Amino acid sequence: MSATAARTPARVFSGVQPSGLPHLGNYLGAFRNYIAMQEGNDEIICIVDYHALTSTHDAELIRRNTYEMALGLLALGLDPDKAVLFRQSDRPEHAELAYLLSTVVPVSWVERTPSFKEKKRTQPDDVNHALLTYPVLQTADIAIYKCRYVPVGKDQAAHLELAREIIRAWNVRYGAVFVEPEAVFTDSPIVKGTDGIQKMSKSLGNVVEIFAPEEVIRKQITSMVTDTQRILRTDPGRPEICNVCQLHRFFGDDYETIWEGERTARTGCVDTKRLLADRVLGAFSEARDRRAELAARPGYVEEVLRAGAERLAPMARETLRETHERMGLGGSEAPAAGAPAS
Ligand code: AMP
Ligand code: TRP
Repeated sequence: MSATAARTPARVFSGVQPSGLPHLGNYLGAFRNYIAMQEGNDEIICIVDYHALTSTHDAELIRRNTYEMALGLLALGLDPDKAVLFRQSDRPEHAELAYLLSTVVPVSWVERTPSFKEKKRTQPDDVNHALLTYPVLQTADIAIYKCRYVPVGKDQAAHLELAREIIRAWNVRYGAVFVEPEAVFTDSPIVKGTDGIQKMSKSLGNVVEIFAPEEVIRKQITSMVTDTQRILRTDPGRPEICNVCQLHRFFGDDYETIWEGERTARTGCVDTKRLLADRVLGAFSEARDRRAELAARPGYVEEVLRAGAERLAPMARETLRETHERMGLGGSEAPAAGAPAS
């Protein structure tokens, strides 16, 4: 390609569960790529409320969290003039495509998905059927718009690998209609939580939120587990394994100086946490103001979500039409007169 040839915009898709207020794991692992990749690409971001039903059964909570997640993304810089933001249940074609794709998926593929095994352990009294087919719906989300690039955190790598296998299996059976998607990671694909061990996750309660009140964010950061072998203030710290030090890499360009302070015990964990809290609050102060502004505009978020879903309707319908045709569904030309019935 010559240097002057116009680049074809790449199709980008990602989904986020309406699990409440965004946290640092979401932002550093995925949302910053949503915001970077909206420039010059055809990007679609979806609040996946169907997926949330696999674990949350409180209708009001799903609705409120959908609003909060959309508001948070807009405040963080997702621009509805550049990317499409919509709610999954406003495009029910996703559910239909999931059913159609599921016909090529051996049960063993979904039974061995790590997230399904994990859910069997964490919600043993609610191992519902939709949990098993969760990755098939995720595949349909991406496939229905024929998207290639999928910005996600590392916890989604297995789902993306499965999506590729499902799409490959369907394309082999019916012809190349769908695009095999590729995960796109940031340089912090797994952000650890305040416990310093598990990945940061709302359901584990180990998050640093972005839009919580200032005192809450300070408290969340102060509660972070650091280097557990650093007991006395005078003990040298090990920044490589300290989660607070790791997070400093993303909030200022002097993290090496901060790390050196820890190594030489010139600074203590409390100082380093305080500094991190100041920087996190500083980094998101504009987004926090913007969130307040947008929240004060009645109906704004709903308007963005509805317009997004509307824009996607022709593409979703066209993909389904093509899929029906390949799979032998729906009407076609009447069989020629006298042709044998079978
Ligand atoms: P979820 O809230 O689980 O739908 O996550 C939304 C996006 O954030 C997904 O792409 C996740 O992979 C990503 N994400 C969530 N938690 C983390 C984390 N602790 N580290 C990195 N990425 C994350
Ligand atoms: N499973 C993803 C998560 O928990 C959410 C999701 C649903 C998604 N559909 C998607 C992510 C399609 C990327 C592409 O974070």
